[in-house]
Amino acid sequence: MMIDTHCHLCESDYDNLKEIINHMGNNIMICSGADNENNFSTIKLINEYDNIYGTIGFHPDEVDNYDLKFIEDNINNPKIVGIGEIGLDYYHDSDKELQKELFIKQLDLARLYNKPVVIHSRDAAEDTFNILENYKDLKIVLHCYGYSLDMAKKFLKLGCKFGIGGVLTFKNGKKLVEVVENIGIENLLLETDSPYLTPEPYRGSKNEPYNITFVAAKIAELKNMKIDEVFEITTKNACEIYNIKI
Ligand code: NI
Repeated sequence: MMIDTHCHLCESDYDNLKEIINHMGNNIMICSGADNENNFSTIKLINEYDNIYGTIGFHPDEVDNYDLKFIEDNINNPKIVGIGEIGLDYYHDSDKELQKELFIKQLDLARLYNKPVVIHSRDAAEDTFNILENYKDLKIVLHCYGYSLDMAKKFLKLGCKFGIGGVLTFKNGKKLVEVVENIGIENLLLETDSPYLTPEPYRGSKNEPYNITFVAAKIAELKNMKIDEVFEITTKNACEIYNIKI
């Protein structure tokens, strides 16, 4: 059993959505909402497929276009397992204060409804850490972790888990290789971030959940483990965090 803990499955991104979902067989996908369109799509898919779970939330790019009532209206759906992806993204010029405000509002909702959070953080390590320090009581997943090993050790002290995806297989993925080599596998989750960040050898084409097999193979190589062990442990990690019973 394997779990893609973070993918975006939207009809507008795929003309073969059914096919790529079926490609996963009985394995599990956690579909992540990030904006109005894929939050809706997440709800539709979790109602349609037994092996798809979801998280809903608003990405920092959505500071002008979010609907917290949608989160509250759907958070008690038993297949909504968390709030995300939420966070901070300072890569593009946008209002940092508005981003922090939206991030904190959603962290407060996670606390209120006792749900894990899925964090997107880009070029905003310090602010992300400083905010999350106030939410150590939450279960926190750092999706597509991209910062240094030193930073990872700090986040680990907050109890964070790390979503590891296709970047691990990239030639320029050395920083992430170092993180994976030095952080225990009990803190790692497999993810694709489909349709983005396709792992080697398919980098450049559209990603799909089944490609976590390439990420798992790379983790197995780095940690000198069998790939089946990687699947077994990362599946257990995901089930614990997201309270999924299999
Ligand atoms: Ni994502």
